[in-house]
Amino acid sequence: MKSIEDADIVEGTIVLVRTDWNVPVGYSEGNPERSLRVLDTSRIEVTLPTINFALNKGAKVIVMSHFGDGTDSLEIVVKEAANFFPNTQLKFVRDPWNTSSEDGKKVLENLKNGEVAVFENLRFWAEKENDEIFVKQLAEFADIYINEAFSTSHRAHASIVGIPKFLPHFAGFHFLEEFKKLGEAFNPEHPFLFILGGVKFETKLPLVEKFLNIADEIFIGGALAVKAKALPLALNPKIIFPVGDIALLDANTETLEMLGEKIKKAKFVLWNGPLGNYEVGYKEGTLTLARVLADSYAKVIVGGGDTENVIDELNMKDKFYFISLAGGAMLDFLANGTLPGIEALK
Ligand code: 3PG
Repeated sequence: MKSIEDADIVEGTIVLVRTDWNVPVGYSEGNPERSLRVLDTSRIEVTLPTINFALNKGAKVIVMSHFGDGTDSLEIVVKEAANFFPNTQLKFVRDPWNTSSEDGKKVLENLKNGEVAVFENLRFWAEKENDEIFVKQLAEFADIYINEAFSTSHRAHASIVGIPKFLPHFAGFHFLEEFKKLGEAFNPEHPFLFILGGVKFETKLPLVEKFLNIADEIFIGGALAVKAKALPLALNPKIIFPVGDIALLDANTETLEMLGEKIKKAKFVLWNGPLGNYEVGYKEGTLTLARVLADSYAKVIVGGGDTENVIDELNMKDKFYFISLAGGAMLDFLANGTLPGIEALK
């Protein structure tokens, strides 16, 4: 897999960057206009080094992303993303193939070196179907392709696996960081403690099965615990459960103490998913675990939406070795060792 640093980007090269600007949007507190806002810009921010790298070489950059399931426009995200580009305007392209409208093909024809165009939500078109005609239509706009959307690379969609067939293809900086840092879990320092929480057991079971061969202990907490306990794998001595009643809505003191002791001895910890019923407010256990991990000497890698939120809430981002923004792609990558988007870049 080649890095963007290996790409031949010079003045005027047209670089198509697939980002994951599928960010949470809502009405934030203290927003008097009650207008929809991006609630977390992390997924935009991580794409900036890649986009700016190309811009600094004089490239014309076209950014593309999906947003939600394909019913809402990406425009609101683009407006917010513009704040991160103080030196250039982000030009929104509602319909890249429309030759008559002002926010259509003309934007691309008039794009100058060092400028950025952003396409409308890819899922308005045949993105999910990975339709070959659509793939070619996208590829024709550019000279090279960069995947800066690790968190969407578990989807075999047009902009992830289709375009690399038609353009020289490279991985962006954040893509490579996710790949390398999460990849450390396959060859970790020991003792390696894997902490799994959350609700969606089906998405986590393949991880448990895979990491039984790699981790020294796997703690299964949160709502997962009840389901896991009923399976034969619960008898494996590497698997540990909350102390006492495993159906509790949050981790109890005994469980947190037990985890604290194990974390003291661990050299590598991978954590995904809250320990309690986080969505309805049972988050004290998860907050305590985050604090303990932040203070530990172990190399700690964290992922999963709720887990990231907890760390944000505690303002402790800097205290972790790596916080993955990859969500479902993180789980798939850890379970399978690769993703469709990684294979497409090889
Ligand atoms: C995500 O939010 O996990 C990615 O953007 C992928 O989105 P999807 O689950 O809608 O494909």
